[in-house]
Amino acid sequence: MPFPITTSLNPKPIPEDVGNTFGAYFTDHMFLMDYKQGLGWYNHRIVPFGPLSLHPSCAAIQYGQSIFDGFKAYRCDDDVIRLFRPLDHIERINKSTARLCMPAVDPQSVLAAMVQLVDLDRRWVPRQKGTALYVRETMIGTEGLMGVRPASEYTFMIFLSPVGSYYAEGANPVSILVSDKHVRAARGGIGAAKAAANYGASLLASEEAKSMGYTQVLWLDSTERRFLEEVGTMNVMLRIGNEIITPPLSDSILAGVTRMTALALLREWGLQVSERPIDINDVMTGIGNGTIEEIWGVGTAAVVSPIGQLTYRGQTLEVGARRIGKVTARLHAAITSLHTQPGKDPYGWRVDVI
Ligand SMILES: Cc1ncc(COP(=O)(O)O)c(C=O)c1O
Repeated sequence: MPFPITTSLNPKPIPEDVGNTFGAYFTDHMFLMDYKQGLGWYNHRIVPFGPLSLHPSCAAIQYGQSIFDGFKAYRCDDDVIRLFRPLDHIERINKSTARLCMPAVDPQSVLAAMVQLVDLDRRWVPRQKGTALYVRETMIGTEGLMGVRPASEYTFMIFLSPVGSYYAEGANPVSILVSDKHVRAARGGIGAAKAAANYGASLLASEEAKSMGYTQVLWLDSTERRFLEEVGTMNVMLRIGNEIITPPLSDSILAGVTRMTALALLREWGLQVSERPIDINDVMTGIGNGTIEEIWGVGTAAVVSPIGQLTYRGQTLEVGARRIGKVTARLHAAITSLHTQPGKDPYGWRVDVI
């Protein structure tokens, strides 16, 4: 569906090098559309990137009706810009909105808007290795209200940020603190949705961990504080012999698209992949006796991030002598090459911006 495009009269200079930044720069334009109960989505538009005007009592601010998602567009080796698995992310938007009583979006029209926006701001897609254009989608309840109920009005937006590597360490092994005090998400809660509130809930634990010199937190389950859930904003995986294990999805774990990608590749490589609960005590024992040689996180921001050190209840253990493990390295190489290789990808995951 064609919609109006208002181009910026003050295009910004492109950063020469985005370095390790994540969210330091925003491009010139953004896509917006509004929703009203009874009317559906309307007022689709691309406008210059800039501030919003909101009712102070809107549902997003007062009651947390705010969800988001994000993936990356890459400038491939043939200079074509490609979005990586955008439809999987749009599908997840609709899971998040369903959990927070927000309206669904139409996947094909949102994809078309993404392609149009990235095309318009294509000069912002960085070229250096490891960089990308991060495509952030957000939906907020905009109706001003006081009683606790779902809003009847919403805004959905897409905006773009050229990014480098999420962690300053890049693909180098990071130090992780196992959190048995704070939890990210509780059973029956909204952890499987990419709700803004989940990230607010995670801040204190990660700030505490960072102040102690750790890169991030490894989250345990909310009931027994025993089973691995996620690491920072990534899904977690580990290898014992030829078996790769990752926690099964639940209502407190975000179903990562990178997790899906990694599991598909690992299975294709003939490795045994198990989605089963992982007890932190078994992890510490396994690292200690050398049966667990590698643990890593997977997510859009850092792609594949090896864990080099784990601290749990005062005990600190090095994983795989703090070197990137063989499966971690293979996954990192395979996924990053899928992001940027020229031509068609064998899985049909990528969407060209032409
Ligand atoms: C809590 C959480 N878990 C996992 C992930 C990884 O998901 P994805 O691979 O789709 O980026 C993310 C990041 O999006 C996240 O915020």
